[in-house]
Amino acid sequence: MEIFDKFTRPMRDLRLSVIDACNFRCLYCMPPDRDYDFFKKNEMLSVNEAIRLSEIFVQLGVRRIRLTGGEPLLRKDLDQIIAGIAKIPELEDLAITTNASLLADKAQMLKDNGVKRLTISLDAIDPDLFKQMSGGRSSVDQVIKGIDAALNCGFSNTKLNCVIEKGLNESQIIPLTEFARERQLKLRFIEFMDVGNCNQWNLEKVVPSAEVKKIISAKWHLTELEPKFYGEVAKAYQFEDGQGEIGFISSVTQAFCKDCTRARISSDGKLYTCLFCARGTDLLSPMRQDQDDSEIAKLIKNVWEKRTNRYSEERMDALKHPRQHDIVEMFKMGG
Ligand code: GTP
Ligand code: 5AD
Ligand code: SF4
Ligand code: SF4
Repeated sequence: MEIFDKFTRPMRDLRLSVIDACNFRCLYCMPPDRDYDFFKKNEMLSVNEAIRLSEIFVQLGVRRIRLTGGEPLLRKDLDQIIAGIAKIPELEDLAITTNASLLADKAQMLKDNGVKRLTISLDAIDPDLFKQMSGGRSSVDQVIKGIDAALNCGFSNTKLNCVIEKGLNESQIIPLTEFARERQLKLRFIEFMDVGNCNQWNLEKVVPSAEVKKIISAKWHLTELEPKFYGEVAKAYQFEDGQGEIGFISSVTQAFCKDCTRARISSDGKLYTCLFCARGTDLLSPMRQDQDDSEIAKLIKNVWEKRTNRYSEERMDALKHPRQHDIVEMFKMGG
């Protein structure tokens, strides 16, 4: 079964957050100058609830699941969640987004339980700048150890995500590109977004992808690649010398809402139809009140069929007025 929203966008991807806590304090996500409340264990989806919801989403047409957080590798029973989801027959892809600080010890567990692809966040290769951007947590050496462990376990098609913020880490564009080329990783540069309420975003801090691409093109020739699947977020380019590819995720300067097929579930079991939602739909309570799968599926279908979100396309108009409501933080909703 496939379900479509008001703009006939199918629900194909599920981003399932397994935990809201994180061991980093990235400046653009969880600035370190404040305290955060995290969900308690009984407020979060259990292993069985996470698997059950994934199965219901697959029945409704989802074919790719990405586990996110917070930092998903902090979740103790992650192996069981992965193993259960990986067994869903119709599922075509199971990926995970991680900051890689714990990956050196966990890469083999991810592989053994059925994760197909990894996406690793890395904003700086310079050790001091890395520390500054991660809010003083972990180290670039530890992250590189994690990346190398993943490569040794045979993960292919591994991606690196780098958020560039004006005046902070533009110096890292070339060194990160070199690092990714050496290891055959697909590096994607992401435009800094106004997601959440606490990252002091403003338009002046956004480095448009076109500028990043210009810096890279001055050193390496790039050829544009066709999208690999409907709704692909990153625009990909190939290095003409054959040393892999690079991508740009331009949600500020080139919104991709038109093909947005992504549903998100937070680790407390709320369904969100856009990264910029102020509230979600509770799926955990109905599951705990013994509603059966078909009733939960009906709830999800009703929400998706009413969906009209296209925040990134509306951003420039929205920025003319102060926000009416706080929106949900990305570490709560899942990235
Ligand atoms: P792949 O299947 O590996 O290509 O996944 P992806 O392209 O969805 O990439 P990934 O999951 O790594 O997302 C990378 C980043 O893009 C996220 O961390 C967000 O910053 C941004 N992003 C992903 N999905 C959305 C979205 O729906 N809306 C917006 N505005 N940004 C998004
Ligand atoms: N803007 C852009 N990307 C962000 N991420 C988190 N916060 C932001 C933001 N404000 C992305 C980073 C990180 C992933 C989990 O979420 O790419 O790697
Ligand atoms: Fe943690 Fe990821 Fe947010 Fe950084 S971006 S604080 S690693 S959840
Ligand atoms: Fe999808 Fe919302 Fe992002 Fe647009 S802003 S691509 S609708 S999640």
